[in-house]
Amino acid sequence: MSSINYSEKIPNNVNLGEDRTLQRALEQWQPNFINWWDDVGPEGSVDSDVYLRTAVSVDPQGWAQFGHVKMRDYRWGVFLNPGSNEREIGFGDHKGEKAWQDVPGEHRANLRRIIVTQGDTEPASVEQQRHLGLTAPSMYDLRNLYQINVEEGRHLWAMVYLLHKHFGRDGREEAEALLERRSGDENNPRILGAFNEATPDWLAFFMFTYFTDRDGKFQLAALAESAFDPLARTTKFMLTEEAHHMFVGESGVSRVLQRTAQAMNDLKTDDVGKLRAAGVIDIPTLQRYTNFHYSVTIDLFGADQSSNAATFYSTGIKGRYEEGKRVDDHILKDQTYKILEAVNGQLVEKEVPMLNALNEVLRDDFIKDSVAGVGRWNKVLEKAGLPHRLTVPHKAFHRNIGALSGVKVSPDGRVVSEAEWAANVGKWLPTNEDRAFVASLMGRCVEPGKFANWIAPPNMGINKQAVDFEYVRFN
Ligand SMILES: [Fe+2]
Ligand SMILES: [Fe+2]
Repeated sequence: MSSINYSEKIPNNVNLGEDRTLQRALEQWQPNFINWWDDVGPEGSVDSDVYLRTAVSVDPQGWAQFGHVKMRDYRWGVFLNPGSNEREIGFGDHKGEKAWQDVPGEHRANLRRIIVTQGDTEPASVEQQRHLGLTAPSMYDLRNLYQINVEEGRHLWAMVYLLHKHFGRDGREEAEALLERRSGDENNPRILGAFNEATPDWLAFFMFTYFTDRDGKFQLAALAESAFDPLARTTKFMLTEEAHHMFVGESGVSRVLQRTAQAMNDLKTDDVGKLRAAGVIDIPTLQRYTNFHYSVTIDLFGADQSSNAATFYSTGIKGRYEEGKRVDDHILKDQTYKILEAVNGQLVEKEVPMLNALNEVLRDDFIKDSVAGVGRWNKVLEKAGLPHRLTVPHKAFHRNIGALSGVKVSPDGRVVSEAEWAANVGKWLPTNEDRAFVASLMGRCVEPGKFANWIAPPNMGINKQAVDFEYVRFN
């Protein structure tokens, strides 16, 4: 078991104490991080003691430590999965060579870009979610929000460590810039589109953690294959934290559905007006939120044809999801992949070199994984004896990146005219009225064991605690 040294100012399992220059650099960055947290971290949380889990080691059992702590005092630190100097590169032109412990000069710019882009999403999501604590539907949910927030903060630490350790002066500058950009800021926005969208309410938060944190899972899994070993090891550890974020999203939407289904059965209706009057979220609104978060998230995988994606793979910087489980040559030079484009008002498949289509490959892996969870949501409706179902929209729907960005496509995959789009967009994507209705349900409900009317309680609490456990102590 590799445990984490908590006696140091920056908890770590990378022998930080033996690298004084690096330690000093990170100790200088730390107060800026805390200033950032105070400035745009979770609102109204300063005095609360929160029942958080803290990583105490990086083995799979390393999550044992739960306790009430102030988030500001959370032990943010630098934790890498154990590695081996013998590890070999598993794909690309360097397949079979030894993995890199340092950054090769010729791949420096691309690696830095990838680490900065990943690092930027972490503080962005904290900023996006900062107001949600004020309208938490329960103390249990508030605690989960806070857990995610501190772990996204730690993910930022993970990327900043790599920048400081391996990228010299420009790495340090990038680490500063990560604390300067702001989600949704016109002048200095976060790098990726979905991370500049607001997360205005808890339904959006659950959808975000279901879909967008899952994008995180797939990006991290692809980076966990990297020839650059420190990146592979740090992203592997981040993946263990990501699982809880997706759990919050999946179970959150399930609980919303459970409550809605209950009201539909009690009132024997699926009438939107009646259900809204009863204070629950109707299925069409849930579908529109699903359509929105799904489409915005699949854009995050990038253009369907990308020479950068080919370079990242061939040079060994970024692999595929579960690279090791795939049975092909892991070089992909002569292979092809099908992408979609619109020709004369029809979506048609086009075969392109696979190396250029690796963004699409990762997007398709993500799609399979997210569809499976939507199936689990539908089980809630099925169990309640209701015929209604949620679906994910066609992957060409509401796209803003790549070949499909110029076409209007309905959720069922038909290319439609601008006029048809305009006439139906209110059925397909959340309207201002939907958002206002959901916002009207948001009110702080944080007595232990109490839940807002629009969401069912969870089946069990966190770390085997009771559902009405005092997860957050307000001081
Ligand atoms: Fe993260
Ligand atoms: Fe996450």
